[in-house]
Amino acid sequence: MAEQSIHGMWSSRLIFVLAAAGSAVGLGNIWRFPYVTAENGGGAFVLVYLGCIALIGVPIVIAEVVLGREGRQSPINTMAELSRRSGRSTFWQVVGWMGAGTGFIILSVYSVIAGWVMAYVVRMASGDLAGVDAASAGAAFEGFTQDATSVLGWHTLFMILTMFIVARGVGRGIEVAVKYLMPALFFLLSMLVVYSVVTTGPAFAEGLAFMFSFKFEQLSWAAVLLAMGQAFFTLSLGMGTMMTYGAYMPSKASIPRTAAMIAVLDTSVAIMAGIVIFPLVFANDLTSSSGPGLMFVTLPIAFGQMTGGQIFGTTFFVLVSFAAVTSSISMIEPACAWLVERTRLSRPKVAALLGAIAWLLGLGSAFSFNYWNDLQLIGGLNFFESMDYLANNIMLPLGGMLIALFTGWVVDRSIVRHQMSVSDASLTFFLWIVRVVAPTAVFVVFVMTLLR
Ligand code: TRP
Repeated sequence: MAEQSIHGMWSSRLIFVLAAAGSAVGLGNIWRFPYVTAENGGGAFVLVYLGCIALIGVPIVIAEVVLGREGRQSPINTMAELSRRSGRSTFWQVVGWMGAGTGFIILSVYSVIAGWVMAYVVRMASGDLAGVDAASAGAAFEGFTQDATSVLGWHTLFMILTMFIVARGVGRGIEVAVKYLMPALFFLLSMLVVYSVVTTGPAFAEGLAFMFSFKFEQLSWAAVLLAMGQAFFTLSLGMGTMMTYGAYMPSKASIPRTAAMIAVLDTSVAIMAGIVIFPLVFANDLTSSSGPGLMFVTLPIAFGQMTGGQIFGTTFFVLVSFAAVTSSISMIEPACAWLVERTRLSRPKVAALLGAIAWLLGLGSAFSFNYWNDLQLIGGLNFFESMDYLANNIMLPLGGMLIALFTGWVVDRSIVRHQMSVSDASLTFFLWIVRVVAPTAVFVVFVMTLLR
């Protein structure tokens, strides 16, 4: 049992929480959660999403961190080693492989969207969007995403930024960044919440009602699958990210308590983003089905009308870019750690190589809003939508289910016990969830979506 990983260690439990929250809190909360909620009718979707976080998400965060801290390596090698030590087939490492692959898909899409965010930093700062109304904010967004050259430029820049930090390793880049950026993001988001309460008038209540009134007749199995996928995505689950970050966690900290903190932070940010964005949707008569552009349309409207909006707006998009970067590094770290363990290549070389692959894959998403508008892959979805669907609705829940099964049925109870200083009853309860409850829930949702 290693007490250290060869990749480095977080210097304290707090840093682990910030790094894991840095991974969890990202575009999934601020960009994806509001528009996916909007497209799926609001309240009932949010309820299922919250249920998935509590029932499936938190236990699988615990499971991933337990495995990671015990193995202290990349997910592929951790799963191979823990299988071996439990006297089981090392075939289980395929789950690690799957996860690494999923990481590329997610990063490729993520980098394109994060590129949009960075472009909006410049647009806000230049005063380009000062005083926009709903119609012109929408047009400005469309015009921007159709400009393939600049979208590509920003995608490239974001990928370089991500790989730069990954190349610097665990301690020297991420730690410093997350320590300052996460609190700053929280602060600015709180200010936006206040702005939304004060200025949107009756639309505020409408926005809240949209998010929190449960109309079950609106809920299809397809929407349940989306809510579950969003829960996995927002907690960075199902591909080994939390396992990898767990490998760098100090031995003493309590894993269940830490996992709960991460989930609470992550969920609060998503709900806050909803509280900011939905009232703006109603106050400006935007259709709530504006898709991936929702955040890029609503926020400029808000900032455009607020005193000091140019400064706040610029700062906000800067922080969202950083929130994105503290997430994107965590998508490639599992694959990166594995290559560093496996080969003699230096970390910077590995980072450059992996970044190049993800960058190439990202071209498909970048072009989905311009040249390849009409290209259809999976069931009528364009490239961007197909990657998003494949990763969030299939790969992450599947990966999470397999990780839960692995923890519950394959790994020796004594190994799990070693990482969890809880009562025997609590341990049994946890094991029951990862053995039965979480896998069954994922399985049922899969099957029901297929049967429809
Ligand atoms: N959780 C991040 C967000 O909400 C995205 C993310 C980072 C992620 N690492 C991940 C998603 C690993 C899935 C798997 O934006």
